[in-house]
Amino acid sequence: MKLAILPGDGIGPEIVAQAVKVLNALKLNISMTEAPIGGAGYEAAGDPLPDATLQLAKDSDAVLLGAVGDWKYDKLERHLRPERGLLRIRKELNLFANLRPALLYPELADASTLKPEVVSGLDLMIIRELTGDIYFGQPRGITTLENGEREGINTMRYNESEIRRIGRVAFDIAMKRNKKVCSVDKANVLETTELWRQVMIELSAEYPEVELSHMYVDNAAMQLIRAPKQFDVMVTGNIFGDILSDEASMLTGSIGMLPSASLDASNKGMYEPSHGSAPDIAGKDIANPLATILSVAMMLRYTFNDEANALKVENAVKTALAQGYRTADIVTDGCKKVGCSAMGDAIVAALN
Ligand code: IPM
Ligand code: MG
Repeated sequence: MKLAILPGDGIGPEIVAQAVKVLNALKLNISMTEAPIGGAGYEAAGDPLPDATLQLAKDSDAVLLGAVGDWKYDKLERHLRPERGLLRIRKELNLFANLRPALLYPELADASTLKPEVVSGLDLMIIRELTGDIYFGQPRGITTLENGEREGINTMRYNESEIRRIGRVAFDIAMKRNKKVCSVDKANVLETTELWRQVMIELSAEYPEVELSHMYVDNAAMQLIRAPKQFDVMVTGNIFGDILSDEASMLTGSIGMLPSASLDASNKGMYEPSHGSAPDIAGKDIANPLATILSVAMMLRYTFNDEANALKVENAVKTALAQGYRTADIVTDGCKKVGCSAMGDAIVAALN
């Protein structure tokens, strides 16, 4: 098995190093090759997704990514900015299905900003379409109108095959869980998502055991805070999924806990924490590596079909949390506060 390691920017290298530590401790037969992406790609090759990095990713079975972005690149032309590297690799590898599980570990019930009774027992899977929508729709850009005023344009668009294939991912995953899919749209205002809803309804005929419901995105944002445990699988488009998954992460105590998998049609995948590069805390050894380590568990499960080792990693995270180890973002009274690297060590120790 071939794995591409793309640490990226900010805290990316630190958290990826912990995930690699965990992978090495499992002693699997995986060859790993590292390459730059994002700001690191721009520094190395003048491109946030250097050709060699893209080629390596294409030649690998899976990609492990840290995070991209740093304020110091905000002034660059848009196509040179770190985020563009991330969006391009998703598109080039056709990683249309983004899985973002929000799972509350019981030990972290107090770390959430919501009351423990609202979040305890939470186990929600957000499925976000990742290669379409307003993120990629044409036309786009900033132009100058005849009267000299500037206008910004982006286009929300989905065709039915794009909707159907992400819907299928959601229904298939729901079949292995509690058999409930909530499709999130804004069908009362946006035609794109009116079509989204129609296609979801058509598709549901093939999954008679799954209960399909629909929710407008504004209501979904509210319901996630009011009563998040009503959800099992949530499926939505690229932009809504971006926003709702950040919101859902806080239910779990910290955005530092949320892993993700981005899959193509044959389960080749890119695995990354759902959080960003946090340049303000980079290099200080205080970042939470658990989202990245949990992304490794997802990689073992979805791309390498190795459920046993996926569970092993997830159980090691549970053990370390039960032992009281906490990074700064999830620390509460009476716990052992540790840095990024020490948390990686705690997970390795818990594996054995
Ligand atoms: C995410 C991030 C990215 C996105 C950014 C960094 C381009 O917020 O993965 O959720 O918007 O998809
Ligand atoms: Mg986001």
